[in-house]
Amino acid sequence: MVEVIAPGRVNIIGEHTDYNDGFVLPFAINKYVHVRISKSSKNWEIYSEKFRDTITLEKPGKTYTWADYVVGVVKILNEKFEIPPLRIEVRSDVPVGAGFSSSAALELAVAWGIRELLNLPVTKKEMVHLCHRAENEFVGTRCGVMDQFSVAFSRKGFALFLDTATLEYEYVPLNLNGARFYVIDTGVRRSLRSSEYNRRREECEEILRILSKGSFREVFMSELEQLPDALRKRARHVLEENERVLQTVEALREGNVEKLGELLYASHRSLRDLYEVSCREADYIVGWLERRSTVLGARIFGGGFGGGILVLSSTPLEELFTDLMKDYLARFKVTPQLLQVDSADGVKRI
Ligand code: GLA
Repeated sequence: MVEVIAPGRVNIIGEHTDYNDGFVLPFAINKYVHVRISKSSKNWEIYSEKFRDTITLEKPGKTYTWADYVVGVVKILNEKFEIPPLRIEVRSDVPVGAGFSSSAALELAVAWGIRELLNLPVTKKEMVHLCHRAENEFVGTRCGVMDQFSVAFSRKGFALFLDTATLEYEYVPLNLNGARFYVIDTGVRRSLRSSEYNRRREECEEILRILSKGSFREVFMSELEQLPDALRKRARHVLEENERVLQTVEALREGNVEKLGELLYASHRSLRDLYEVSCREADYIVGWLERRSTVLGARIFGGGFGGGILVLSSTPLEELFTDLMKDYLARFKVTPQLLQVDSADGVKRI
């Protein structure tokens, strides 16, 4: 029997850049998916502590439930290795749907657990690709590689500066000069999330087609005039967001939290106005926080259309949050949640 934990993640900046060969700057957080894996005598057994339910399968195949993240990983591993029937027990304190990549955490935990149990000769980078493929090909979400990569490679105390074009990465110390990161979960879960996400991907592919480029890395601001209005906005976001990631890395290295905060607000404006993946609840929270002098920066993060807001605050946020919660609840009839997030190491056996 082996036990593995894989963390959720937040992304400081670099949103909707990972499927455009761009830069991202995530870090893993101290919320984990925990799996226990052992050999099973006959059938596959996938148990969720949350649902108090075991899914039993003779052979790995689609379940149309959360277990598809587990089965997807097994199916992809099966292309190369013979995997005997297993019992996989899952528990998790990673909030679902709030942009913390609970699905990537589950995939990596299962993949790493199977690797350890069966001594499979697979590197961490290969596991990242396998899990990314499981999500794209088996589950059907066309996500970029940021989530799986950060769940695998993050290191406590550091942000992971990743170039998604080359998969080269660097650890940047989370030098926040006493400020802290929080996440406010808007409580909004939008079904249009994955359809609009896939739509943005198609728009980006169209941009490259129109400009006859193989990668966003070959696209320059001066060329965007050739694009229709909506696509020009999308492309401008990607180019400027990449630039903001580089500036954020600098700001972190200098411990310049004011600059870091400004970049977060700028990223939010761009996601709202140019990439159009925000929502009124998120805009309300960010606008509210922007008027408070102790809050240095805030932005929607993850896929968008709800989910979480990353906040950088120079003082504890709890008191302000109580006021915000009253205003927000009265307006939107949804209860937001506040979480303080600390950085953590990537997937590991325990
Ligand atoms: C989701 C995807 C990521 C990334 C973000 C947007 O979280 O899973 O791959 O594309 O959206 O930056």
